[in-house]
Amino acid sequence: MRAMKRIVILISGRGSNMEAILRAASAEKWPAQIVAVISNKSTAAGLATASSAGIAARVVEHVSYPDRAQFDQALSTVIDEYSPDLVILAGFLRILTSAFVAHYHGRMVNIHPSLLPSFPGLDTHQRALEAGVKFHGATVHFVTPELDHGPIIEQAIVPVLDTDTEDTLAARVLEQEHVIYPRAVRDFIEGRYALMEGRIVRHTA
Ligand code: GAR
Repeated sequence: MRAMKRIVILISGRGSNMEAILRAASAEKWPAQIVAVISNKSTAAGLATASSAGIAARVVEHVSYPDRAQFDQALSTVIDEYSPDLVILAGFLRILTSAFVAHYHGRMVNIHPSLLPSFPGLDTHQRALEAGVKFHGATVHFVTPELDHGPIIEQAIVPVLDTDTEDTLAARVLEQEHVIYPRAVRDFIEGRYALMEGRIVRHTA
């Protein structure tokens, strides 16, 4: 039997994407184990969800470190205790140093609530409404040093309705996030694609 892949998930808050991944991993019996969930905020609601699923829930608070480099160093020390094959950013709202990103090159993914390269950064739904785009969505991508950039693994598109508010649009996008993120992670675990020389290379069975 193939070795189980080891996954570490980083969160900052609610953790609904983390939960969608936990649910899919268990329902679909992935050859993978979520070995730890780590938050940079002790108040993150997702920590309790992880603990009750029997997963190590750890906190590395950025406010305890004098600068970004030292926080990233402490964070990667904790992550590496779990020897992950994949690090998943699931609503982990921190800008990462290039040293941290380089350390997890080709094995760290993120989900962003927009159709990248449109609307990197914060307040994506509000900015999409202000721009008047007719379509919006979410993107799963490998993490590279530039914020909310990096080779695109999956995207989901949703319509923007005339009646939308930031909240209704966010909810429509989030529903799709919960579809594409577990799928992208499972495909990675199953070796269906990899990052090679800055591009996604897909392997067909
Ligand atoms: C999600 O919408 C995710 O796409 C977004 O934060 C939310 C976290 O929700 N991430 C970013 O904005 C990253 N730039 P969750 O904690 O319920 O998964």
